Amino acid sequence: MKEIIFRPELYEFESCADFAREFQLGEGDLILTNAFLFEDYFKGLDLPVSTLFQERYGAGEPTDLMVDAILEDAAKTGCKRIIAVGGGTIIDIAKVMAVSSGETVDDLYAKAAALQKKRGLVIVPTTCGTGSEMTNISIINRTRIGTKMGLVSEAMFADQAVLIPALLTGLPFPVFATSSIDALVHAVESSLSPKATPYTRLFGYKAIEMILRGYQRLTKEGPDALVPLLRDFLIASNYAGLAFGTAGCAAVHALSYPLGGKYHVPHGESNYAMFTGVLKAYQSIRRDGALQELNAYLSKLLGCEEAKVYDALETLLNHILPKKPLHAYGVTEADLPEFARSVMETQGRLMGNNFVPLDEAQVLHIYQSLY
Ligand SMILES: [Fe+2]
Repeated sequence: MKEIIFRPELYEFESCADFAREFQLGEGDLILTNAFLFEDYFKGLDLPVSTLFQERYGAGEPTDLMVDAILEDAAKTGCKRIIAVGGGTIIDIAKVMAVSSGETVDDLYAKAAALQKKRGLVIVPTTCGTGSEMTNISIINRTRIGTKMGLVSEAMFADQAVLIPALLTGLPFPVFATSSIDALVHAVESSLSPKATPYTRLFGYKAIEMILRGYQRLTKEGPDALVPLLRDFLIASNYAGLAFGTAGCAAVHALSYPLGGKYHVPHGESNYAMFTGVLKAYQSIRRDGALQELNAYLSKLLGCEEAKVYDALETLLNHILPKKPLHAYGVTEADLPEFARSVMETQGRLMGNNFVPLDEAQVLHIYQSLY
């Protein structure tokens, strides 16, 4: 059994200037980022690097068309190393850039098993959610064939992941809220997964503690307390990335994809919409083992009886991001059986990591309970 995958070397710097110096950013490097991040953090450093700004190629999650256009422009720069500075979209695109030397997205999927690293890859996350700097998967919307698919390869791990908490200081509160809840879900799902190990649980449980303690402080002191907590949230999201990079995510993510796909709900928010519903469903089927251990841990952190942990968790999370029923996103009752079928048909990779197996009727029941 694989205990833990720890591939990228991990660094932390106080400033982008320290990072640029230590990593000798310069010719041959291409920084993929957003214009506002570059303006605020890198422009003043006057580095002889190439730059591409992701938003010039389209908004939202990465599509094949967006990535192909970026690959073409990246090739023109002759870059040898990709420096990804951004959130989930930028990180996913950069992982693909690292394995392409002229191939398009379709070419890369066709030979996914044989991909090789063509350029160095350094990932600097600027949200506290995906933990994707530690993993080797990119999710690309393949508009040409009409489906969202993960591209996974050993060659897509970053060489180095770099944490710079100062980059998060301008994070809008709603982005902080959805991305940190995503990290919490990564930590919980990976800790309940049959692929969890003592090593993944070490990181997963610590991430849960750091995130919930941070939320408790924000609830008590208000959103102004966020800036000094950002480093903790960034580290917690990285821990959760390490945990789910080995042990995987499960039903919360699987059930959130149809909602996110059809009604364009941000990833962290659609996960939150499913989170306690899935935990309650697990508990109604089986409450021993990893779930019992998790509930005991949550009850200590939340200061409540074990029987009430999910309600207490929801009360706390509601201070950060108010939970909405599915119908508030525009979901109709007729969507629910379709969502359940799509989960069973397309999310097998995630559903294999569930704490207890869930069939289509149980998945439908979860959706109905959240409707
Ligand atoms: Fe996620």
